[in-house]
Parts: sequence; structure tokens; C-alpha cells
Amino acid sequence: MNLIDLPRPDDWHAHLRDGELLRVVAPHSAQFRHVIVMPNLSPPILTADAAAAYRERILAALPPGSPTVPLMTAYLTDHPDVDDLVAGFRAGVFAAAKWYPARATTNSHFGVTDPQRLRPVLRRMADVGMPLLVHGEVMDPAVDIFDREAEFLQTVLAPLVAELPALRVVVEHVTTREAVDFVSSRDNVGATITPHHLWWNRNALFEGGLRPHAYCLPVLKRESHRRALREAATSGDPRFFAGTDTAPHTVARKEMDCGCAGVFNAPTAIAAYAQVFEDEGALPRLAGFLSHHGAAFYGKAPATEQVRLVRRPWTPPATVPSTTGEVRVFLGGETLAWQLEG
Ligand code: NCD
Ligand code: ZN
Repeated sequence: MNLIDLPRPDDWHAHLRDGELLRVVAPHSAQFRHVIVMPNLSPPILTADAAAAYRERILAALPPGSPTVPLMTAYLTDHPDVDDLVAGFRAGVFAAAKWYPARATTNSHFGVTDPQRLRPVLRRMADVGMPLLVHGEVMDPAVDIFDREAEFLQTVLAPLVAELPALRVVVEHVTTREAVDFVSSRDNVGATITPHHLWWNRNALFEGGLRPHAYCLPVLKRESHRRALREAATSGDPRFFAGTDTAPHTVARKEMDCGCAGVFNAPTAIAAYAQVFEDEGALPRLAGFLSHHGAAFYGKAPATEQVRLVRRPWTPPATVPSTTGEVRVFLGGETLAWQLEG
């Protein structure tokens, strides 16, 4: 198999940033049809007006004639404006709302401190069919960083979805077998899986020394979890779909005393996913994961435009330049087997 024709892939989790970085990274995300844009700017995207203005800036940064449809998300706080949220969803400005536990990750200090406070807004979201996107980690300092996801699912999300079975929930960037089991056993729950969590286990963080460019959140887990993610992604289960979590930070901000979490993978994500599916003997199920499952979950029509992946060795650049500093590319400088044509 040297050619794969598939509907244009979607990216159900991306950080496009703003300003100069947006201008630099947006063209790389233009390979995708739908792109769910995360709201963790500084300041975060709290209102439908802010989301609409941000969408305009994204459209201006995409190449002319780009097939990409940015789908905007609202950043939930302890005091969300529920009416604005629902009106924004009904008006087609918001595709979903994102729950960051406070301090869980980049620009999450305005996030949710007490999940109980979210109950009223989540009930409204369930009523109107607005999806909830969850960064699923507890922030209790007593919980080991490698256990934060499993603990969140068990103690926070399980009771919540039991209470609100109609709420559509995406567990973002799943990293553990526990998350795979949680999602596969429930209706109305989906999950995004990143290329880097399929590619690396936590050894990548310490290979020959400290590796800040492999640092992302949720942090990489042990090999048995990576295996579980690869099985889930390639299983054909429609609950699992591609969400790159492309999260650019400049090299300077990655390689510092307190380096930022995030992997910039937009240029190489599709190639990496294809390689994973090939290695797992699952290429016939690649289109489901990249192009169908997420669209079905979000109630979007299947893509009509076909694109072609070809087996053609290529070497992505190690970094992309920006006036604020270069950004390291996931798998940059390595030889990749699959390439999106055109
Ligand atoms: C993301 C970022 O930098 O915005 N970082 C990351 O490691 N994934 C935030 C997030 O999705 O956690
Ligand atoms: Zn993210």
C-alpha cells in the first residue's frame, strides 16, 4: 500500500496561539479540515465575542483558499457566563467548552478550582447538546504526576457523567489505559489521542539526559499505556479520534529553568499517525480515526474533499522560524515515510 486516499483529516484539539506565533503555525494546521481551537490564550477566550474575533484572526493567518474551518471553544472558569456560552453555541460561534482544572497546564490559572461549581453550566450544556472538552487531571499535590489522569477519571469525571448521561464529553489527549477503558465503556464520551503519546513513552523525557521537547501535559506515561493508546486508536472504535494537541512554544521557552509543556506537531502529525497505523497493521482504519470518527461525534457532515497520503520519504525541518524565536518540530529532522500530497 503506497497510496491512501481519505477525506481531509480533522484535528479535534489544537493550540494556534495568537499574534506572530499564530501567523507562523496556522499554515501548518491548514492541512486539516476542522480544527478545534483551544481557548487558553492569555487572557483566555471567555466570551462569544472574543471567540468570534479570535476566529477572524485565525482566518487571516490561514493561507488564502485554505480548506480549514476553525471551530472555537470557550474557556470555563469558576464563574462562566452561561447565557453567553449557550447563545454562542446556538449561534455557531462556540463548538464546545473546555474545562481546564486550575493550574493543570499552560495558561490554566483562570481554570476551574471546584468541579461542583460547574454543575449548573454542565446541565445547560447537556440540555443544548454542547460538548464538554476536558483536560482530565487532578491537581492535588499529593497525587503523583503520572497518576493525575486516572485519579481524575475515577474521582471527578465518573460521577459527573453518571449524573449527566446526556452530556457529550471529550476526554482530551488521553494518555493511560485507564482513560481508554473509561472511554470505551461509555456512551456520549469520546477521546482525542495525540501523535506524540502514540509515538513516545516516558523514557523519551530522559533519553541520555533531560529532554524538554518531549515534555507535554498530560505527561508521557509508561510503555504499557502507550500500547493501550495504540490499540484504542487503531481499533476502529469511533469514540477515539485524532486531536494533535499541537502546542507551539519557542525553543527558548522550552529550554529554560521552568520550561513550558507542549509539543509542536502540526507539520508532522498526519505522517506520524499514518506510521503508527501502518506499524499496527491498521492502515485500513486510518481514515476512520483521522477523518470520520470526530466529525460524527461533533455532528459534522463527512468531508467530501479527498486528499492523498503517499509513501515518500521526507525530512521535516527541525524547527520553524518566527520573529519571537524558533519553534522545534515534533520528529523534525527525522525521515518520515508518509506525506500528505499537495
Ligand atoms: C498545552 C499548551 O501549551 O497550551 N500544552 C500541552 O502540553 N499540551 C496545554 C494543554 O493542552 O495541556
Ligand atoms: Zn492542549
